[in-house]
Order: sequence, then C-alpha cells, then structure tokens
Amino acid sequence: MKKSDVIRNILRDKPSTPRIQFGQAFAPTNIALCKYWGKRDLELNLPINSSLSISLGDKGATTFIAEIESDQDSIVFNEQSIALHSSFGNRLTTFLDLFRPLPTVRYQVITQMNIPVASGLASSACGFAALVLALNHFYHWDLDLTQLSILARLGSGSAARSLWQGFVKWEMGSAKDGMDSHGHVLPIQWPELRVGLLILHTGQKPLSSREAMLRTVQTSHLYSAWPKQVDMDMQSLERALVAKDFNALGRTAENNAMAMHATMMSAWPAIVYSQPATIGAMNQVWELRKEGVSVYFTQDAGPNLKLLFLAENQEKVMAAFPDLEMCEPFG
Ligand code: PMV
Repeated sequence: MKKSDVIRNILRDKPSTPRIQFGQAFAPTNIALCKYWGKRDLELNLPINSSLSISLGDKGATTFIAEIESDQDSIVFNEQSIALHSSFGNRLTTFLDLFRPLPTVRYQVITQMNIPVASGLASSACGFAALVLALNHFYHWDLDLTQLSILARLGSGSAARSLWQGFVKWEMGSAKDGMDSHGHVLPIQWPELRVGLLILHTGQKPLSSREAMLRTVQTSHLYSAWPKQVDMDMQSLERALVAKDFNALGRTAENNAMAMHATMMSAWPAIVYSQPATIGAMNQVWELRKEGVSVYFTQDAGPNLKLLFLAENQEKVMAAFPDLEMCEPFG
C-alpha cells in the first residue's frame, strides 16, 4: 500500500482549501525508553515492535505553514533557507507532495527547533508531528490525535509518538494499511522525573536511522533476539510506571538502548554511533550509580546520551555533568 492511499483514506471528506492565512503548531520531541528499531513495511514506516517514550515538554518544533504564489516551496529551518534539492529539502517536499490539494500548490514552511538537530535527539519526530499539526490547523481538517499520529508516522516513525506530552506508547498494530499503528498517551504523571540532554557531539550523523534500521534487520544475527527483548522491556516499563519504581524504569531503559546498539554493532558493515565521549559519559553514569546516585542513560541513533533521574538527584547529576540540558517532562 502507498502513503498516498492511506492519506486519501484519512482525508476523505476533509476540506482542501484553507480558511486562514497560515497554520501553526508546536510538537514536543520524544525520547524512547523502549526503542522502535526495525520496520515491517518500509513505505508506511510500520514497526516490527511497539515502543514507549517520554515527551520533553517545551523542547521540540514549532512549525508555520502557508500556501504561496510561487513555482517552488520555500523552507526555512532555524532561520536558514533550505535548498530544495538537499536531502533534507527533498525529504520535506516529498512529504508535502502527499498533501497538496492541487499539484501546483506551493508552500512556505518555517520551522524553529530548540533541540540540536540530527544528533539522535529525535528532531525528525517533533518536526513531522509539528508539520501535520500545522497542516491540520491550516486546512481545518479537524482530525483527532490518533489520525494525526498515523500521518506523522508516514514522515518518520518516531513522530507517531510526538503528538502527546507525557508517556506515550506506539502500538505496532497488525493491519496492512497501518491504521492500527499509532501512538496513545498513558494516563501516568511523574512530576519528579527529569531527563537531561547530554550533548557530546553535534555533527550530522553518518547514517540515517532509516538506513541503519534496514541494515540491522537485513544483516545482524542478533536482531532475531530484539523483538523478545522488547516484549519483556515493555512489560517491565509499564509495571515500573504504575509502581513509580524509578530504578526499574532506568534499568530497563538503559538495557533496552544497549541491546538496540548491540544489534547495530553486529550488523555488517557495523554501525557504531558512539564516540569516545559517549563511552566516557557512560562510565561516568556507572560511577555515579556506584556512589549511590540513581541515574541511568538512554541513547538513540547518535552519539549523545539522555540521562534519566529524579528531582531529588538533580544537584548531584548536574555537578557531575555541568553542561546538561535539563528537561522537566511534566513541568
Ligand atoms: O523515527 P526514526 O526513523 O528517526 O527512528 C527513530 C529510531 C530511534 O530514535 C533510535 C528509536 C526511537 O524509538 O525513537
């Protein structure tokens, strides 16, 4: 099935002319505690496993969209004009192609993000979620968050979880058209929870998560163990959230990230996102834990780490990592 078929289905009977001058929306970025790694459908970004994330409050993307009189789209990202033939420009205009009411319609898209981009900090997640929210606002589609989560997934898988704040589960689903593969929010608040962004390296990553997933699924012998690990980790995480057992949450999230990276390292050619500074920071976290500070990390498709801890340990963690960018997901 094609993306355009799914979109036609969702937007059937929806207006295709804007009634306002521009649409605008914010979406938070999200960090997976149990990762999405591997697609069962490359076109629709349907995952091999369910995943669970925490959204980062006011850290994310704000996107503005309008139709313009021009023969080409105009994309401005963090105040910089983006070349339409660059891989980023091309990815965005191809996604916009799915929504143009007429092939001649051109857009101005302006996005501002307050997180470092393409360093495994889920910038595509909040970027695509904010874009579909802005389109929904602009065209008055009046879609619900489940439908918007499906549309965002077509841009980037993890974007399916960026429609909500708090803990979000993305159910893998089983339908061929992916209509049951979307996020939903878990009714759990944890105001003491802190996420610290440890930026160790801000360069562009060498391999996109899309390519890395594909290579892992195709070549890693360890990958067959991954869905089983996810099943266990999802259960542990959901239990930890209900019981507010922070150590169980941290342990599961850290181990899940390490297991995901193990599948990548055993791919061929091997995929290693960690830099020397990443390993150094992991050792620092383990040292802190030995000293009795409850802090854990998770790592996505990049060299940076996200630290998980509770408010009561904030001072000690900040003393060890003075450059940490603090997020209060429920703040
Ligand atoms: O949505 P994508 O294609 O950027 O993939 C995200 C993959 C991870 O960040 C590594 C895991 C996740 O669940 O967010």
